[in-house]
Amino acid sequence: MSDSGTVIESVLQERRKFPPPEKFAAAAHIKSFDEYKKLYAEAAKDPEAFWATIAEKELTWFRKWDRVLEWDVPFAKWFVGGTLNVSYNCLDRHLDGWRRNKAALIWEGEPGDRRTLTYHELHREVCRAANVLKALGVKKGDRVGLYMPLVPELAIAMLACTRIGATHSIVFGGFSAEAVRDRMNDAQAKLVITADGGYRRGGTVALKDAVDQAMTECPSVEHVLVVKRTGQDVRWTEGRDRWWHDEVAKVDSKCEAEPVDSEHPLFILYTSGTTGRPKGVVHTTGGYLTHVTYSSKLVFDLKDTDTYWCTADIGWVTGHSYVVYGPLANGATSVMYEGAPNTPQPDRFWEIVARYGVTILYTAPTLIRTVIKWGAQWPEKHDLSSLRLLGTVGEPINPEAWMWYHGKIGGERCPIVDTWWQTETGGIMISPLPGATPTKPGSGTLPLPGIFPDVVDREGNSVGPNQGGLLVVRKPWPGMLRTIYGDPDRYVKQYWSELPGNYFTGDGARRDEDGYYWVMGRIDDVVNVSGHRLGTMEVESALVAHRSVAEAAVVDRPDELKGQALAAFVTLEGGYQASEDLKKELRDHVAKEIGAFAKPDDIRFTDALPKTRSGKIMRRLLRDIAAGRDSAGDTTTLEDYTVLARLRESEE
Ligand code: PRX
Repeated sequence: MSDSGTVIESVLQERRKFPPPEKFAAAAHIKSFDEYKKLYAEAAKDPEAFWATIAEKELTWFRKWDRVLEWDVPFAKWFVGGTLNVSYNCLDRHLDGWRRNKAALIWEGEPGDRRTLTYHELHREVCRAANVLKALGVKKGDRVGLYMPLVPELAIAMLACTRIGATHSIVFGGFSAEAVRDRMNDAQAKLVITADGGYRRGGTVALKDAVDQAMTECPSVEHVLVVKRTGQDVRWTEGRDRWWHDEVAKVDSKCEAEPVDSEHPLFILYTSGTTGRPKGVVHTTGGYLTHVTYSSKLVFDLKDTDTYWCTADIGWVTGHSYVVYGPLANGATSVMYEGAPNTPQPDRFWEIVARYGVTILYTAPTLIRTVIKWGAQWPEKHDLSSLRLLGTVGEPINPEAWMWYHGKIGGERCPIVDTWWQTETGGIMISPLPGATPTKPGSGTLPLPGIFPDVVDREGNSVGPNQGGLLVVRKPWPGMLRTIYGDPDRYVKQYWSELPGNYFTGDGARRDEDGYYWVMGRIDDVVNVSGHRLGTMEVESALVAHRSVAEAAVVDRPDELKGQALAAFVTLEGGYQASEDLKKELRDHVAKEIGAFAKPDDIRFTDALPKTRSGKIMRRLLRDIAAGRDSAGDTTTLEDYTVLARLRESEE
């Protein structure tokens, strides 16, 4: 919890409103605001019946459920007794008709190599990979770790796991060997799939190297399966390591999809929490797939004629839900691009949009702000007229960036869906429906039918229009996380004990006079840097693990490009001197412990941190200092006033 008294202050007031373009609305799945409101009301009247209708209509079940929901607060089971298979829903059921030869994945590597996989081809590759998993001893219920570049084999590996009922746990390729080790050990993974390396910003990232380091302390892992991507040299542990291409050549391309229980764990994805240890968020099968299939269809207005591109890395939840599972369950064409947006030039994204005729583009506000900085001349070089819908996710979008996206990328004709959700929610919770909801720049607008959020005070009472409060969800929903892997107590404590019976998001928000939601950011000690959630505690633990550091406090400060940047206040052990070299060493140390994206932007050395008399670090004061603001807030609980003055002087 933050140490500030009020939950969050609301300052943003935005009055512009954009109705859905008529032509768009006429052809959309949900065609008017009235239709949305009707659907919302219907879902509110009987949420279980509403979700059951969707699950039945959108998915193929091997066995229908006996009960829609078992709600033993806060533990939910959806579609109890039902069985299905995710890869069957994403692949097999599209093979009977014309979609068989439709592009499922259109992939482009950073060096410019390209690959398209039709549904038929993707199915064949997934079956082969599933047979390889079986041959290597992976069984239903086992965990498989994936630490890979954004290549088709990553999607293939995910779907292969689901085909045999193995639970995957993907670690984003930007994480370090230490992070891989901790996650694989927590999940007790039996197999790890990686690549020799991946391409990023014209260079290569040595993924196999990091896995080798991690594996010295991962006793549960029996085999490492390696995709050849860059051709760089790798070390080889005979017996343990296997090349992907050798293994798939040995097996046949038939593999029946294993029916699994609706509540069978589909994946574990680690995310930051308020304590140092990342949490393994567990998502299960039937409810999750229902939520992502339904939300992909309604929010992106997905049609068979679309070429849909979500630019997220599959290592984050956005890639799980909206590069792979949601689009493929809908039989859509999903574009994947391996590399950086400015390699070789700052127009790479726009070149890709024009080359494939992308119709729907889903990206992050931080990318939009970066593109704005690079200049409108880059998108202007390309024909973006194929685009019909734009989306954003990951953090609040500032209205200026929204307007630029609308004008320069969307040619003022494309609706923008600003989608609010989290790793834990599994799928989109609050978002405009593009043919129905009038949008306001900076607002996620309204909840999807079947989702029941609220903005409340610390006692759980709903607050009035334009008052800031805590964003909670009042009722269970199918895509919700089920637990924290191996730690149900932490699940209860983290999400359900702040306001019992309500899911606590950790975000602050307000609702305006139209009921529109404006998410204002985190209110706990978790920050969002470039759309990636980071626990400040994780960075602090990494810093304190360095021999020179006695104590560290990490806070966020506003940053024009990243939205938020990280500022670290560090006190040194005796015998160490503050220096530029040490700053660099500490930043590199964090990169080694967590990953380069977690490096603090500023490091300030100080001889003391501001604390309350009970010893709690007063982060609010540090935030003010990091942002260069005067501390207006209450400092009466500060133990040593002189600390503040000294901190202000601490060189940045
Ligand atoms: O603070 C919210 C912010 O990102 C957090 C979730 O981060 P993560 O689990 O990494 O998932 C990111 C992708 C779903 C939220 O608690 N956030 C996400 N989307 C938005 C947002 N804040 C404002 N507006 C959004 N559209």
